[in-house]
Formats: sequence, structure tokens, C-alpha cells
Amino acid sequence: MPGSGLILGIESSCDETAAAIVERGARTVSSVVASQISTHARYGGVVPELASREHLRAIVPVVRAALAEAHIALADLDAIAVTAGPGLAGALLVGITYAKALAFANRLPLIAVNHLEGHIHAVLLNEREAEGAPENGAANGSRSNSSGDPALALVVSGGHTHLYLVRPMDATWSYTLVGRTVDDAAGEAFDKVAKLLGLGYPGGPWIDALARFGNPRAVPFSFAQIKPKVHLGGRPPRTKAAKTAPIARLDPHFLFSFSGIKTAVLRYVELHGMRAESRARVTRVLQNFRLPQTREEALALCPQPTLDLIASFQHAVIGDLEKKTFAAAESMGARRVLVTGGVAANRELRERFTREAAARGVRILFPTLALSTDNAAMIAAAAWPRLLAEEFASPDLSADPSLALS
Ligand code: KG4
Ligand code: ZN
Repeated sequence: MPGSGLILGIESSCDETAAAIVERGARTVSSVVASQISTHARYGGVVPELASREHLRAIVPVVRAALAEAHIALADLDAIAVTAGPGLAGALLVGITYAKALAFANRLPLIAVNHLEGHIHAVLLNEREAEGAPENGAANGSRSNSSGDPALALVVSGGHTHLYLVRPMDATWSYTLVGRTVDDAAGEAFDKVAKLLGLGYPGGPWIDALARFGNPRAVPFSFAQIKPKVHLGGRPPRTKAAKTAPIARLDPHFLFSFSGIKTAVLRYVELHGMRAESRARVTRVLQNFRLPQTREEALALCPQPTLDLIASFQHAVIGDLEKKTFAAAESMGARRVLVTGGVAANRELRERFTREAAARGVRILFPTLALSTDNAAMIAAAAWPRLLAEEFASPDLSADPSLALS
């Protein structure tokens, strides 16, 4: 049985090196995130080799900082948790190798956490923090005070757009995949569209900041129907987002596809002569890293037709996420909807999901902005029920870039 209830979480699946200490899955004692954005920004995306190198540089100082901030020694911990996948193989390996070494040297159990489970637990951690003191014991320590009813979780990030039915089960949780993208993740679409418009990386925050000043109905994007052959044909998945779970048995109503809208934006840009303007923007964005805050700043960066295109793109993507998420919740009888992952930081998403949930009488939960994007507090929180259930990683734990959750 746990003593202190303190778990050190380590996360290195993509471009953030993070460490955090969380008590009983319910109180963040410290959380440190070293972002590699400035390293990857000039390439307009994450370069896997650079990511591994940056993780190697950052991992020791980040873990030390998390311990120091918490005034905690390794001997005070009950366990070490680490992201085992999905993610970039080389990046994951840095965290896993270091976590293994720390666990072995300090005789601590090691807990492997799925990154997507981590994102879901970011919301549950927030919920428990809002409720107050950490809970004790296996009977109730693994869940929030909310009932044991299922919740529908949308994990929406740069690598994933997945819908899960989430249920508390004895000491742990069960996850059933309900829907997912058949090609690009929503965050990937934000990043690709931002790149083709000459905006910064990651693209989501730029699109979010600029969309406020455009007309969301200026460009009517329509989503191509997802044809049954795409999910029944046994085709190999085409993108990294499509690799992590099977599609064949899922209800087509809950499948997403975001590669079409990205191509539609590209065509629109070419057709309306916006190419040169987008290229010219790249250097200006790189020189001045700040996101625009006012209409004047937005207009100084993008003419009105570009702002309208950005707003219309965001409106279409968020609308599709909203429609399918609430349809899935209704069909599964879930009265709670959790939205998590980097794209959950989006302003329009939060507003529209909140409004729709209120209209349907459904409870909606988001993580704080800091817990929306990658962090290690969510990994330490997800590990708590596993510690209670004594589900420990084997000594030969390795990175699984396409680790599925269910
Ligand atoms: O969860 P996360 O930090 O890493 C992954 O697991 O992928 O998510 C990063 C993704 C990126 O695609 C980024 O563009 C997107 O989340 N993102 C946003 C916003 N903030 C981050 N997308 C839309 N609006 C935002 N405000
Ligand atoms: Zn993530």
C-alpha cells in the first residue's frame, strides 16, 4: 500500500520534457515543463532527431527542478511513472530510460502510462483539485467524487483525435474507443494550415488568436463524407494519427477526417492569390514571436480575407468535433463530456462545447490551460490508480510509438 502517495511523473513523448510530483492523483505538488518550441519553430514542425537531443539535455534538470520545487527527495516517493507511448520512439526512450534508472537505483516501482490516458487524467486531476484534499485508499482514491457513470472523453491534440468512453472500474479505469480520426489529427490540421499561411509553430495558438478577428462564415467549408471503404477496407493507416488504434469496428458517425479541409485551405490560398502574402509572413512571424492580441495587431499580420479564411477553417473544425462528440455522448448515454489535449486550449472550442453542453444538460469538463498541452502532472495522476492496483511495468519496458488505449 502507498505510504506518502507521492508519484514522480516523467513525460517526453513529443516536444516537451516534463516532470511533476502529484499526491494521490489529486494534488499537484510541482510541475515543470521544458518546451522545445523554439528549437522546432524554424522547421515548422517537430524534428524527431532534434526532439531526442533536446530531451537528453533537459531530462535531468527538469526532474531535479520538479523535486526541488516540491521540496521532496527521491526517497519520499512511492513510485515513478513514465509515458510509454504513443509518441516519437527516440523521444519516449529518453524518458523511459531515465525513469527506469531512477526507479532501479532508488528501489521504487515503475509505472508505465499511456499518453492518452494521461490527457484524460489531466481533467480528472483538475476535478479532484477543485474538490479539495487528496482522497485516501483504494475504495475512492482512484476516482473523483463524481458517480461511477461513464464519461465521454475527446482527446484532441497534435497526434490524436480520439473519442473514448471512460468508466471507473474497481481501483482503475476502463477506456473503450468509440471514434477517431482516419487520417490527420485536428491539431495536425491546425499546424499544417498555420504553416501554409506562414504562421508560427505550433499553429493552434496562432489560428486561435487570429480567428477572433475574422468572419467564420466567409468560406463555407464542407466536410467530405467518410466513406465506409476507408474504415472497412483494411487499408494501412496513412498518418501517425491513424496508427494508434483500429478503425474497422467503429461507428462511421464517430470517425473524423481532417486531411480534406487542409487541402481545401491550400486550394483556396492558391485560387485567391494568397501564396506570396503567406510566404512573406514567415520571416515576420519568426522575427516577432508574439501572438496578436488586438484587431490592429491581427490586421498588421494578415489582411481581412486571410483572417476570414482562418476563422472559417477553425469554425469548421470545431463544429465537426462538437457535432460528433455530443452525438457519441448521447448514443453512449454519457452525461459527462471531457475534452483534453492541446486543442482543448482553443477558445472557440471551449465556448461552443460549453454552450452545447448547457443546452443538452450535459456536464462539460476541460483541463486548465497549463494541463491541456503536454505535461507530466497528468502522467503522475494517471499512475495513481495503477499504484493502488499494483500494476507495475516490467524491467524490460520499452517505448511503444503506437501504443493503443483500451
Ligand atoms: O497535447 P499536445 O501538447 O501534444 C500532443 O500530444 O500532440 O498538443 C499539441 C497540439 C498542436 O497541434 C497545437 O497546435 C495544438 O495542440 N494547440 C491548439 C491550441 N493550443 C495548442 N490548437 C488549437 N487552439 C489552441 N489554442
Ligand atoms: Zn499530448
